[in-house]
Amino acid sequence: MKGVILAGGTGSRLSPFTRVINKHLLPVGQFPMIYWPILRLRDAGINEILIITNKKHINSFIKILGDGKELNVKLFYEIQINEGAGIADSLLGAKSFIDEEKFIAILGDNIFKDALTPYVQAFLQQEKGARVLLKEVKDLSRYGVPQLDDEKKRIKSIIEKPVHPPSSYCVTGIYLYDKSVFQFINAIHPSIRNEFEITDVNNLYAKENDLEFDILKGWWVDAGTHDSLYKASKYVNGEKTVEDDIN
Ligand code: G1P
Repeated sequence: MKGVILAGGTGSRLSPFTRVINKHLLPVGQFPMIYWPILRLRDAGINEILIITNKKHINSFIKILGDGKELNVKLFYEIQINEGAGIADSLLGAKSFIDEEKFIAILGDNIFKDALTPYVQAFLQQEKGARVLLKEVKDLSRYGVPQLDDEKKRIKSIIEKPVHPPSSYCVTGIYLYDKSVFQFINAIHPSIRNEFEITDVNNLYAKENDLEFDILKGWWVDAGTHDSLYKASKYVNGEKTVEDDIN
C-alpha cells in the first residue's frame, strides 16, 4: 500500500512562523512535524509516500527530506494546484501516484501515538470502501464529528465543525481509501467555507454503507494551532498524563 501526506495549506493559525515556513516543517519534539506521519507510515510497512504541498514551500521539503533515504522511505512530491481549495481537492493530486486499489492519506499536522499497522490490516481485509479513525476529544466544534448508529457500529454521517456535535468523537486526519475516492471528490461541491471538504467525500462513502471506522487508543493531536503544537511536542517527548489521552 502507498501513503499520501497532505502538507499544503496556509497554516494561518500558526502565524507569524508560517509567513516564512510551511507549518509541517515546524519543530515537534526533535523533528520537523512531517517526520512523525512519515515514521508512522514507515513503521506500518508503507515505504512509498507522496507529499503534496504548495509551490512556495516544495523546495524546503526537498531540502529537508530529499528522496527519503535518511528515513528509509521513498518520497515523491506533488504541488497542490488550487491553494486553499480544501483537503479533498488537494488529494486529487495523488491520482496518478496511486496505481493500486487502496491507499492511506494523512494530514501532515496529525501527530499521534498509535501504530497504524492494525488499521491498515483491517482495511486490507475490508472488501471495498473507506475507513476513518476516530478519537474522543473535548473541542469537537473544531473537527468533523460522526453520528453513529445506536450500536456504535456504523457511521451514519459526519458533520463538519458542528455547533451541536452528534457524538463525542472527531474524525482524525487519517483516512484509508479505495480508488473510488477520486470519483467521489469530483462529485462534491465547495462548502460554506468555500473548500472541497473531505467530510463530504466521507459522507458519500457513508451513504453507500461503505465507511468503516476504528477508534484510536492513544493520544492524537491536530497540531495546527499554537496550543496544540506545544501539546504535540510534549506528547512526542513522552510528557503525558492519563487525561491527555482525551485531548
Ligand atoms: C480537517 C477536516 C476535519 C478533521 C480534521 C482533523 O479539519 O476537515 O473533518 O476532523 O481535519 O485534523 P481542518 O484542519 O480543515 O479544519
